[in-house]
Amino acid sequence: MIGISESQNLRIPEHIAIIMDGNGRWAQRHGFSRTAGHKKGAEALQRLVRLVSETGVRYLTVFGFSSENWSRPEAEVKELMKLLRYYLRSETAELHKSNIRLRVIGDRSAFDADIVQLIHNAEKLTAGNKGITVIMALNYGGKFDIAQAARRLAAQAVETGFVPSTQEVLHQFDAHLMTSGVPDPDLLIRTSGEQRISNFLLWQCAYAEFFFTETLWPDFDRSDLDEALSAYARRERRFGAVLRSSSEG
Ligand code: IPE
Ligand code: IPE
Ligand code: MG
Repeated sequence: MIGISESQNLRIPEHIAIIMDGNGRWAQRHGFSRTAGHKKGAEALQRLVRLVSETGVRYLTVFGFSSENWSRPEAEVKELMKLLRYYLRSETAELHKSNIRLRVIGDRSAFDADIVQLIHNAEKLTAGNKGITVIMALNYGGKFDIAQAARRLAAQAVETGFVPSTQEVLHQFDAHLMTSGVPDPDLLIRTSGEQRISNFLLWQCAYAEFFFTETLWPDFDRSDLDEALSAYARRERRFGAVLRSSSEG
């Protein structure tokens, strides 16, 4: 196991994305309600932000609520909204004190007005911070993100009367995604043993390294992060090319 302090010598990802999964199963295993699992999950996130900010990682994107999670029982969705509200209220000042920048991606128009306001306030307060950027994906869907980017480009084309070439669209697309200005994730972690992307950062994960762990999200700790970071450091990223060391001549 490589301690985070030693991880300075490792190749560190610039951007880590996490699908924080397994709150419900954690609760079930401990005989608690799903809500209790989500509370533990939120605490795990709080701890993780501190840990990750010590590693030199610049961006951390976490999947907090997917565009499909509305299909859960109403009571569970309500509890998740309560939790979101609670943390936005209680954590924003703490994040700011730690020089952390908070950004939210996702369709926020579906949230209650007070939550929209809290998100806006948190983003505004922390906008100038130079430490790690924490990006919360809330009511986020990768397909929605791509669709809204396409729509914006289409609107531009109508306005200017000019249809860009596919190459030009490829070139401009990142700037229209909700993650504009943020480099693509280098490492995508999913907890709880599931091995799927569940409509997370579809476009942005084109070349992400995937790390799956059986650990349920509320139990995700320093040793799990270390494990993910050392696995990442051992990966050979090729981006479709042939590495110079293995090419002939
Ligand atoms: C992840 O945990 C949190 C959210 C999706 C909000 P789950 O609630 O999906 O936990 P499991 O998958 O049921 O164990
Ligand atoms: C993905 O987890 C969304 C979040 C972690 C917020 P889900 O638990 O909703 O995903 P599925 O339903 O197992 O694919
Ligand atoms: Mg789940």
